Amino acid sequence: MKITNLGTRSYASFYVACEIYKTILHCPTCKLGLATGGTMVDIYKFLVDLLKRNQLDVSQLETFNLDEYVGLDGTHEASYRYYMNDILFKQYDGFTESLLHIPNGVAPDLEQEAHRYEQLINEKGPVDVQILGIGENGHIGFNEPGTDMHSVTHIVDLTESTIEANSRFFETRDDVPKQAISMGLSSILKAKRIILVAFGEKKQKAIEALIKGDVTKDVPATILHAHPNVEVYVDDGAMPDKEK
Ligand code: PGA
Repeated sequence: MKITNLGTRSYASFYVACEIYKTILHCPTCKLGLATGGTMVDIYKFLVDLLKRNQLDVSQLETFNLDEYVGLDGTHEASYRYYMNDILFKQYDGFTESLLHIPNGVAPDLEQEAHRYEQLINEKGPVDVQILGIGENGHIGFNEPGTDMHSVTHIVDLTESTIEANSRFFETRDDVPKQAISMGLSSILKAKRIILVAFGEKKQKAIEALIKGDVTKDVPATILHAHPNVEVYVDDGAMPDKEK
């Protein structure tokens, strides 16, 4: 696992956007694993800019998002479907809607939806590049501390730490859903290449635990040590002190 400090959030976002851009350029039919959250906002903005400048064809691109809140449909502004439409899919012409996969948080049978999503990844995958953020508690996707290393797409009870961290996207803390559907840790590891991004001092502890090297259920991101092709990009804030 390689960690690179790219200095500022802006530099790092542009760098990761270029990596995604190059992946699509070299393989227009590629499969991308996408993430949401504050970390990804500038990455998608730079990506849209690169797509527009170069008029890249994205019609055959297939995407798989990591997770979705239970109980929010795509019209809810805090849903991840809304986020993806708003920040990426509606910002550039040519995406094929049927190829843009996100778990359905309002499916009548959530267990069945989780199973369907995992099957989809198995049938259409593997994902060529998976983009990941990391939670302050070390989660990836919504795989909270304690998640089984062999987990596949599943229904998750969000921890207090995650509810607190994500309350900034909702009017009140009580509005934050208590559950989500998330790819599991083993679903994420199926990707051929994984890029994890973290910005700001709030992520420093999680990055420190990640690069220490011990795989532990307490910090779900450490499972990435079991994958041969992982890159970690941070800014000055997220870089652990002793690595500076
Ligand atoms: P953030 O979330 O980008 O909003 O900090 C990342 C995550 O929780 O995985």
